[in-house]
Amino acid sequence: MSLEISTLIDVQKVEKSKISQVDFNNLPFGQEHTDHMFVCDYKDGKWQQPKIMPYQNISLDPSAKIFHYGQSVFEGMKAYKDTQNKVWLFRPLDNQKRINISSKRLAIPEFPEEYFMEGLKTLLQIDSDWIPTTEGSSLYVRPFVFATGKGLHASPSKEYKFIIVCSPSGSYFAGKVKVLIEENYSRSANGGVGFAKAGGNYAGQFYPTQLAIEKGYNQVIWTDDNKHEYIEEAGAMNIFVRIGDTLLTAPTSDRILDGITRKSVIEIAKDEGIHVEVRKISVDELIEASKKGTLKEMFGAGTAAVISPISGFGFRGKDYELPEIENSYATRMKKRITDIQYNRSDDKFGWRYLVK
Ligand SMILES: Cc1ncc(COP(=O)(O)O)c(C=O)c1O
Repeated sequence: MSLEISTLIDVQKVEKSKISQVDFNNLPFGQEHTDHMFVCDYKDGKWQQPKIMPYQNISLDPSAKIFHYGQSVFEGMKAYKDTQNKVWLFRPLDNQKRINISSKRLAIPEFPEEYFMEGLKTLLQIDSDWIPTTEGSSLYVRPFVFATGKGLHASPSKEYKFIIVCSPSGSYFAGKVKVLIEENYSRSANGGVGFAKAGGNYAGQFYPTQLAIEKGYNQVIWTDDNKHEYIEEAGAMNIFVRIGDTLLTAPTSDRILDGITRKSVIEIAKDEGIHVEVRKISVDELIEASKKGTLKEMFGAGTAAVISPISGFGFRGKDYELPEIENSYATRMKKRITDIQYNRSDDKFGWRYLVK
């Protein structure tokens, strides 16, 4: 298929691709970057002409507001190549809408849908050779926007940069994860920015997560900021719990990101005839179910890791193991989602989006 380069975007291509320097059989997550990036600047009250240019460093004034006040939001999505070399995205309009929901909360101007979708498609068409095809790998796509305006006054910037970079990536987690239920630190609070994909939400998680890693866990499960009674989400994933044959997940709120994988799992599980409950899940209920043997599974759901089975959780110095389950909900959900993403099955929900 020939490239249909959009006329909306000013495209400047690399003279020589660096793709031959990358070992596609040994891809870490998010370390290598494709030849090009999409860039659009906001100034004089509007988004300027979008560009695609060789991947490169950017230069900013030391007083740029991103450095001081953290005005920055991002998205995470993936592009997949099928066996016929067709390129697909998964529910990209949901990411487009969500970055603007996040931006609004951080007083960042919204990015036009047409620029987002054309920029994304054109960039992926140009860099499509970079989409890995080995099992479990994909091209991780990172749209982000941040404040570039100068000045130390604590007020919203008048200038921003919107960028999309792409990273051929292998699996996010290898194997199951062991989690620690956190009851001292909070990820987010009512009225805060927990529902936004704001950079600062992640910075605030690093220290408590480091402490959990030192204790032998891979990830923290965040609980509500009020009494730390209810589980909410984990790192960059929403959380699912299977008690008996019911699949449970917390309702989204000010504090929880409205995950695209989460809502896909809910729909697929219902389609499979699984009883799904979207409601608060207390730590007490988890422990109770674990003691009774009815806690069968826990897993995280998010774009990067897709479905990440949890092997057990720690709480107040005690570890609770989860059983090995055959034909687990986690395995079934992962298969259904990745089969749609890689165009290995039909797509009754209309989630797949053809790029080229
Ligand atoms: C805090 C948080 N929760 C949940 C998710 C999962 O969201 P999605 O499935 O849209 O990737 C992410 C990742 O984007 C995240 O950063």
